[in-house]
Amino acid sequence: MEEIKELDGIEEQLDKELENVDDLNKLQQTKANFLGKKGPLAQVMANMRNLTIEAKKELGMKSNQIRKNLEDKIESKRQEIEDLIISKKLESEKIDVTLPGVKFNVGSIHPLNQTIMDLEDLYISMGYTVATGPEIETDEYCFEKLNLPKGHPARDMQDTFYINPELLLRSQTSPVQVRKMLEEEGKPIKIICPGKVYRRDSDDATHSHQFMQCEGLVLGKDITLSDLKGALLEMAHKMFGEDRNIRLRPSFFPFTEPSVEVDVSCGICGGKGCPTCKGSGWIEVLGAGMVNDNVLRMSGYDPQKIQGFAFGMGVERITMLKYKIDDIRNFYLNDVRFLDQFKEVK
Ligand code: PHE
Repeated sequence: MEEIKELDGIEEQLDKELENVDDLNKLQQTKANFLGKKGPLAQVMANMRNLTIEAKKELGMKSNQIRKNLEDKIESKRQEIEDLIISKKLESEKIDVTLPGVKFNVGSIHPLNQTIMDLEDLYISMGYTVATGPEIETDEYCFEKLNLPKGHPARDMQDTFYINPELLLRSQTSPVQVRKMLEEEGKPIKIICPGKVYRRDSDDATHSHQFMQCEGLVLGKDITLSDLKGALLEMAHKMFGEDRNIRLRPSFFPFTEPSVEVDVSCGICGGKGCPTCKGSGWIEVLGAGMVNDNVLRMSGYDPQKIQGFAFGMGVERITMLKYKIDDIRNFYLNDVRFLDQFKEVK
């Protein structure tokens, strides 16, 4: 039968056409061409009218078979194209894990904060608590209640920035101790006071108009100068090493009596004398003393019943000595090359 041959030809035709189909649009078009109302299959069927019943039957079965074959071929082509699209996408979006990554900069603790944390660790382990106070202070707490009345010559050493005659940027953290004494009303105290202080100084390698202090105050029954020495020897060991020693030299502070200057044995020469310690074997690190009776009285303590010691150290000075830093300004410049060196410091 002529029509059957024609039907067989359609399948071959589709195979040929599908060879050139490489995207879903083209496939859609091909499907319409072959299976649509105007397609070759429909055409053959349209001519069936003149055939015998037998022939119609045979042609009908055959054309159903062909339609099914065409649909299957188109479907499997669709699958093929879709798989290709996905594998192309996977290929183009592949991550090359061997490429160098983007470097993520991690910060580190500033050496001054590290020193304060070390001091806090040490003194907290000895039973102290950490006290803080405002950087804008009253003249009364920063000076007067520390035995430095207006016009006292020792105020010159601590000239600072005044907001008005009664308000100033604190030149020392001692006013935190005054506040604590007023709060505790005669009871024993054991605190350290780390924080920022200000002085009217010209900035150079060893001076800064803003720096940090860590002061300490211990008040109680029978507290003596040897307790002070013990507290400071522990500090020297913790900050500079177990092999270091300290010595106390007489000095003067209005808020302590007697007052001492505290030196640590030189870590470079071990105390023999070298350029770092200017030949003396000792390096000055802080001021201290037994709290002056006037200071105790002015803040509500009875010197007959309670007494104690105070010390005050410069956090920058301790840090410079510990890490051999030669210019205080390095701490404030935010230069990453400087700060990077402390990443591993603990
Ligand atoms: N506050 C003093 C200063 O800044 C240091 C100090 C504190 C000295 C406590 C003695 C006792 O100079």
